[in-house]
Amino acid sequence: MEDTHGHRISYLRISITDRCNERCIYCMPQEEQIWLPRADVLDYEEILRIIRIGASLGISKVRITGGEPLTRRNVIWFLEQVSAIEGIRDLGFSTNGTLLTRPLPDGRSTAQGLKDAGVKSINVSLDTLDRATYAKTTGRDLLPDVIEGIDAAQSAGIEKIKLNTVLMRHRNEHELWDLAAFAREHDVLLRFIELMPVSTTEVLTEDNFLSVGEAMALLEFRLGKLIPRPEVKTNGPAAYYEVPDTGQLLGFIGAMTNLHFCETCNKLRLTCEGKLRPCLGSHLEFDMREVLRKPEATDEDVARFFMEVVERKPKEHDFRNNYQPGRRMIAIGG
Ligand code: 5AD
Ligand code: SF4
Repeated sequence: MEDTHGHRISYLRISITDRCNERCIYCMPQEEQIWLPRADVLDYEEILRIIRIGASLGISKVRITGGEPLTRRNVIWFLEQVSAIEGIRDLGFSTNGTLLTRPLPDGRSTAQGLKDAGVKSINVSLDTLDRATYAKTTGRDLLPDVIEGIDAAQSAGIEKIKLNTVLMRHRNEHELWDLAAFAREHDVLLRFIELMPVSTTEVLTEDNFLSVGEAMALLEFRLGKLIPRPEVKTNGPAAYYEVPDTGQLLGFIGAMTNLHFCETCNKLRLTCEGKLRPCLGSHLEFDMREVLRKPEATDEDVARFFMEVVERKPKEHDFRNNYQPGRRMIAIGG
């Protein structure tokens, strides 16, 4: 599948639930949650069918996200099924890390279950190493669980573990070095992400925003001039730099300030209620569930729908135009 801007689409990012055991200020409203009714959320068989059809159209990488995907029942079983789909060569998983140590019914840790189910890479959110700041940012006092979760993922032998830090002025701008040191000690890749206006809360103000440019300047103050490593690529829009002396790689995801951000986009997103989104930063979405749940819908109908959505993939995201501090944004999920 190729869009009208020459982006070859090979990556499908799938949210399997809107539920989460945390309440990050940039992701969710702090008050009482209104979750989607179960019937609105795609069941596993529906998602597996979409992935199979996607794979026949050139999707080779899938990443499972949420909400917190580990809050959905039987997720390990589901991942095993995804791994078995022909053409899916890379299976990633994004998590807040708080549930990775939880034992499965057969006694393995959840992290081990992920590994055994064929998960190649996990992304763990980690915005701070300060327990009080963590509790304030996520609404839950679970930092120790996340740290143990990262250790569990390493012990389980998951090859690629990435940490994602959302940059927030005042909240973690003074901790960027500590986070980099933590990543180095654990030998995992750390990426700093600019706050994006996908939230329903009022946290997205000019006052909270910290650009990757400023973050780099802060890091360089202690670590020395960062060396660009444009040849280092993960499957996304992060730009990588090397810390002189140590050789540590750090990633920077400048969704708001990097004007070339969308040039290499290869992604589609599927929300948990079956909306296919050609771009995170645009309100465009198309109801795949409606097609899927028509009793007479064939795989060809679903495939055609995939291609129609890809045709409408925008050239670039609309965040910069959307970025109006104080304006309420719809939630897409982490
Ligand atoms: N801006 C930037 N990153 C966000 N994430 C969730 N909401 C936002 C936002 N508004 C991040 C989480 C997680 C990843 C899945 O997305 O921190 O690392
Ligand atoms: Fe949950 Fe992730 Fe959203 Fe935080 S960012 S509330 S951990 S889904």
